[in-house]
Amino acid sequence: MNLLLYGPPGSGKGTQAAMLHDRFDIPHISTGDILRAEVKSGTPLGKQAQPIMARGDYVPDDIMIGIIRNRLAQPDTANGFILDGFPRTIPQAEALDRLLTEIGKEFDRVVYLKVETPELVKRLAGRMTCPVDQKTYPPGTTTCPTDGAALIQREDDKPEAVKQRIEVYLSKTLPLLDYYRSRGLVSEVEGVGTIEEIHPRVLKAVGRGSGVANS
Ligand code: AP5
Ligand code: MG
Repeated sequence: MNLLLYGPPGSGKGTQAAMLHDRFDIPHISTGDILRAEVKSGTPLGKQAQPIMARGDYVPDDIMIGIIRNRLAQPDTANGFILDGFPRTIPQAEALDRLLTEIGKEFDRVVYLKVETPELVKRLAGRMTCPVDQKTYPPGTTTCPTDGAALIQREDDKPEAVKQRIEVYLSKTLPLLDYYRSRGLVSEVEGVGTIEEIHPRVLKAVGRGSGVANS
């Protein structure tokens, strides 16, 4: 099962992708997580990406396409994958199409987590992130339940960066919806409700459960 989790910043892509990974044992490929790991390790890519991410802009397409090309070549993607945060621009989507054709794969479904801006701003302002496994938790959580690490606030969850991320999403990433809708790939999932309410909607959208979703 090859999936794309699509949605604005804070819509719950990471949260729902982690749940799909646990259920189907296919890798969750988050380009944001990959970039944050590079920043943490202080690699040349991390040094280049850090200021771009901190202000809420996008890392250049050619870099992102190279990252995904390498990641999809790994053997753990043989039975499927969940992309989260890529593609984010039309050139990225076109490059991904060419890459998927090259490796003989295609998307089974694009799941669009629909959440309006005021709710996104509220979620991101309070989001806590584990510096070890990158999982995210709602406001008020202080310790990672998996590894016990003290949770931190992401640098790009500060108000100015959140505003910029939402603006960049609307101008550069929203056009992807029509790109994938024109191929009948998009299932729209109402992304407001509890995390546990949304999970069955996502399962239904990918054809693996019962719940409420529509195309
Ligand atoms: P990335 O890490 O992908 O950030 P994002 O798209 O802004 O999305 P988020 O991770 O902020 O949100 P999410 O949808 O995963 O929500 P989450 O599940 O955490 O990218 C970061 C940066 O990297 C980009 O800005 C860019 O600079 C760069 N980058 C990455 N990919 C790139 C690309 N392809 N091209 C160029 N640059 C790229 O949930 C959010 C919060 O809400 C959490 O606290 C969670 O617990 C809570 N929550 C989840 N579900 C619910 C619910 N149902 N109700 C209430 N709270 C909920
Ligand atoms: Mg995320």
